[in-house]
Amino acid sequence: MLAAMVTQKFATVHVIEHPLIRARLTRLRSNATGTAEFRANLHQIAKLMIFDVLRDCATRETAVETPVSMTVGAELMRPVILVPILRAGLGMVHSMLEIVPEAQVGMVGMQRNETTFEPETYYNRMPSSLGEADVVIVDPMLATGNSVVCAATALKSQGAQRLRFLNLVSCPEGIQHMAKAHPDIRIFTAAIDDGLNDQAYIVPGLGDAGDRYFGTT
Ligand code: URA
Repeated sequence: MLAAMVTQKFATVHVIEHPLIRARLTRLRSNATGTAEFRANLHQIAKLMIFDVLRDCATRETAVETPVSMTVGAELMRPVILVPILRAGLGMVHSMLEIVPEAQVGMVGMQRNETTFEPETYYNRMPSSLGEADVVIVDPMLATGNSVVCAATALKSQGAQRLRFLNLVSCPEGIQHMAKAHPDIRIFTAAIDDGLNDQAYIVPGLGDAGDRYFGTT
């Protein structure tokens, strides 16, 4: 119900629906799920989602000679760049590379400035093809949206033109922030949860994705 209202209001949001994703996400949410199972389920969801995120990537025709005859096939027109936001986004990249092994990987690290409370970039390294590529920013959680808004602004200033954002769990506050700041960026998510608590955790959410993935709880 909430998801339907949010997707109706914000045209940039796309909820990737699949029974396997719902089942794996339930395992991620469970407080009883330990690190190994959390990682395995996150990897599987990332693989399932990247298909849809890249579904409309442009292709061009290319001739190919099979053992039997010539035929016409397709190749991607643009490079694909995955940009995990450190640290939790890292957990999704390796499994996505199994699906798109030719993808390049940029990385952006964001942290909160404890004086201004604004997000700041502490690490940014991008492939030189950024301007021509289909770029997918990756972060499991879209909470306040501060990090991804800041990351997307930085990537655009570096020349990125075709950006998408993949996350697992989002909430209305983060979607609104991102849709307002970057209305050109489509948001792909597996779930739209109720909202944020007073500590900026998504409710019901899954807790701290980075801590649970890296076992730092
Ligand atoms: N980051 C997380 O890992 N979890 C949340 O609920 C919010 C931000």
